[in-house]
Amino acid sequence: MKITNLGSRDYASFYVACELFKQMSQQSHSKLGLATGGTMVDVYAFLVDLLKKNQLDVSGIETFNLDEYVGLSASHEQSYHRYMNDILFERYPYFTQSLIHVPNGDADDLAAETKRYEDLINQQGPVDIQILGIGENGHIGFNEPGTDMNSTTQVVNLTESTINANSRYFDNEDEVPKQAVSMGLASILKAKRIILLAFGEKKRAAIEQLAKNEVDKQVPATILHAHPDVEIYVDDEAAPRF
Ligand code: PGA
Repeated sequence: MKITNLGSRDYASFYVACELFKQMSQQSHSKLGLATGGTMVDVYAFLVDLLKKNQLDVSGIETFNLDEYVGLSASHEQSYHRYMNDILFERYPYFTQSLIHVPNGDADDLAAETKRYEDLINQQGPVDIQILGIGENGHIGFNEPGTDMNSTTQVVNLTESTINANSRYFDNEDEVPKQAVSMGLASILKAKRIILLAFGEKKRAAIEQLAKNEVDKQVPATILHAHPDVEIYVDDEAAPRF
């Protein structure tokens, strides 16, 4: 695993957008593992730009999102499904709807939904490129500290740290859902190639933990040391200081 400081958020976002674009243009039936959150906003903006400039045929591209809040419908303003529609799928509206997968956090039977989603990853996967952000507490997807290394898609309880960090997207902290459906750590590791991005000083401590080269269950992202093809790109602020 290599941590590369690309200097700025702009450079790193553009680099990752280019990697996604290359994958999609070289293989018209590519499978992409997608992430949401503030970190990914510029990646998708650059990607939409590249797709438009090149009029890329994306009808065969299949996408799998990492997670979704429990209790929010796909159309809810803060749902990750809505984020994806607003930021990618409606800006470049040539994806095939049936090939876009986001866990349904609003399902009546969440246990059945987690099974359905994991089965889908197993049947349709593996994902060619999985992109990941990282939580201030080292989570990937919504796999919080202490998550089992063998976990598959499951309902998770969000920690105080995550609820607090994500409250910036809601009117107030009380509105942040307390649970999410998330791909597990084992589900994420099934991807062929993984690219993790981290920007800003608040992510530095988590990146410094990753730089230590040891798997620590309390820092879920460190499970990535068990994967053979992981790249990490950071900006100056998130780069390790030791
Ligand atoms: P952020 O979230 O991109 O909104 O900082 C990343 C994460 O929690 O994985």
